[in-house]
Amino acid sequence: MDRGLNSEEFQRYHDLIYRIAGIHYPAEKAELLSNRVKKRLRATSTPTYDAYLLRIQLPNEATEQQAFLDSITTNETYFFRCQRHWDFFRQAVEQRQADPARKNEPIRIWSAAASTGAEAFSMLIVLQETLGVGFGGVGVEVFGTDLSAHVLDDARRGAFRAYALAQTPPELVKKYFTKNDKDEFLFNRALARHATFQRHNLMQPLPGSRKFDLVFLRNVMIYFDGPSRERVLKNAFDVLVPGGHLIVGESESLLSVTHGFQYLKPSIFSKPSGAPAAPKPART
Ligand SMILES: C[S@@+](CC[C@H](N)C(=O)[O-])C[C@H]1O[C@@H](n2cnc3c(N)ncnc32)[C@H](O)[C@@H]1O
Repeated sequence: MDRGLNSEEFQRYHDLIYRIAGIHYPAEKAELLSNRVKKRLRATSTPTYDAYLLRIQLPNEATEQQAFLDSITTNETYFFRCQRHWDFFRQAVEQRQADPARKNEPIRIWSAAASTGAEAFSMLIVLQETLGVGFGGVGVEVFGTDLSAHVLDDARRGAFRAYALAQTPPELVKKYFTKNDKDEFLFNRALARHATFQRHNLMQPLPGSRKFDLVFLRNVMIYFDGPSRERVLKNAFDVLVPGGHLIVGESESLLSVTHGFQYLKPSIFSKPSGAPAAPKPART
């Protein structure tokens, strides 16, 4: 297939992606979507866009549907993205450790659009730097999830290119990574054991009864429209402990969507203490 998606095909792909993942591809991204789908057509020797669209909706084509979702997501990430968030995170951990009632409680954090794990592993570095080796005896669990399966495979390997470490102070690179003969930087295995990665679609509530002190939901809502944002914010709200924090991407606004969070500072929110499980609609 040499040509790009025509406007009807684009609309059909748009609707399917939106229905599955809540991702809204605007019309100006038609060429990007065309190129991404074209690669899957080539890889699977499928003759037409409509044939491929039908194929990925068949119940026995779950593997190809996953390959399609992998191909249409944007997975850009790197360690210590947005320094302001990491300063806030460190202060929040320090404050918690200054509270005798909370200092021995385990710390649980959700990296809700984890991509290749740079965000989850940045958390572990900050925690070790703040609490000391072995996190000073405090239990630490970082849970990373993503819609894309192939980025999670990378996260489980914990291998990164130099690009992902461009914002990381060299002394931390030296301390927490080992370079292999493929020019990859391998994240410290002992620390990595505190992070687990699982595929999860943010449009769905997180299964199970996990609760988190902090949710990082960064640089994913830019791909969602208002209703999808409300859905994912509600799902994040429901798994945060009262008083827990939500951190979103710097360019992501919670304006004009209904949610139950309290504004703390730009792109940082908290769940009100004593908040009910389901958020009361509130606008900030
Ligand atoms: C740009 S990356 C952001 C990674 C990281 N949070 C950061 O800020 O560096 C966005 C990630 O969101 C994931 N994503 C997109 N839609 C999703 C959905 N519906 N459910 C879960 N993850 C999704 C993509 O696969 C991608 O890895």
